[in-house]
Amino acid sequence: MKVSVIGAGNVGASTCYLLIAKEICKNVILVDINHSIAQGKATDLQQASIALVSETRIKTSSDYKDIENSDIIVITAGVPRRENMSREDLLGTNIKIINEIVSNIKKFAPNAIIVTVSNPLDIMNYAVLKLSGFQRSKVIGMGGILDSARMTHAIIKRLDDKSELVRACVIGAHGEQMLPLLSHSFVGKKSVSELFDEHICKEIINDTKLGGAKIVKFLQTSAYYAPAAAISILIEAILKDKKETLPCSVYLEGEYDISGVSIGVPVLIGKNGVETIKQLSLDAKELEVLHIAALELKEQIKIADRVLKENI
Ligand code: LAC
Repeated sequence: MKVSVIGAGNVGASTCYLLIAKEICKNVILVDINHSIAQGKATDLQQASIALVSETRIKTSSDYKDIENSDIIVITAGVPRRENMSREDLLGTNIKIINEIVSNIKKFAPNAIIVTVSNPLDIMNYAVLKLSGFQRSKVIGMGGILDSARMTHAIIKRLDDKSELVRACVIGAHGEQMLPLLSHSFVGKKSVSELFDEHICKEIINDTKLGGAKIVKFLQTSAYYAPAAAISILIEAILKDKKETLPCSVYLEGEYDISGVSIGVPVLIGKNGVETIKQLSLDAKELEVLHIAALELKEQIKIADRVLKENI
């Protein structure tokens, strides 16, 4: 099994580190246009692999030819958020980078499953799908797994008994319009909406939505350990054919009454990528938020299309 990671920034390198530490695949290729950075990080990671007595080997390359025969390609390249920037502010710059990467994936790894991580996530995943012409089941945006981990964190912080099993579910856009689902998130057998009063539920939603921005404020760049952990979960579910339900950004064709955008919904992940899209029962308010998010994404898609037309 071979995984190529495009972008040797914090998220890309942390992802490689986890692939090695968890021995999720046999080979990892780390690709970056800045060969010096990729070389430095890959050498460090090779030594980590040896120290950990890991079976996973890592190589670096600035030549896209080396992504040939990859089972999965993770796109993390692009500029990250700085303070007071939204994920959407990155659109103009990152779409051009994505365009270049996808043309190489089409050329060298036309059978790979693509995991999109670059922001704004849902727009980039849409662009990857359209530019690649791949089946929608093979173009998966990683946002909801991360947001769900942040929601789980927000719930655990408010529990007296931290040993209880918490499962949170966040769907919708990976941005302002994300939808932390109180009635589909659980502490043991009880839903979060049953367990906490309205005020605490609001706090949990707020903490979840601002989870990423809070880290940007401290670090002056965006998060990477939790994003990498979430990516590793998705890769593992694909390579081990786990048939695991995970919230991911996928292109919808009428599911949830939404078409023409990539947005976070629960999907069954296995060796073919998205095996099925799960239809959750949502109340009217939740559906409204999801639809508003889809409309906003459509506006940004227009901007992305314009940038691409000007640059091709
Ligand atoms: C975040 C970035 C990776 O949410 O989108 O931290």
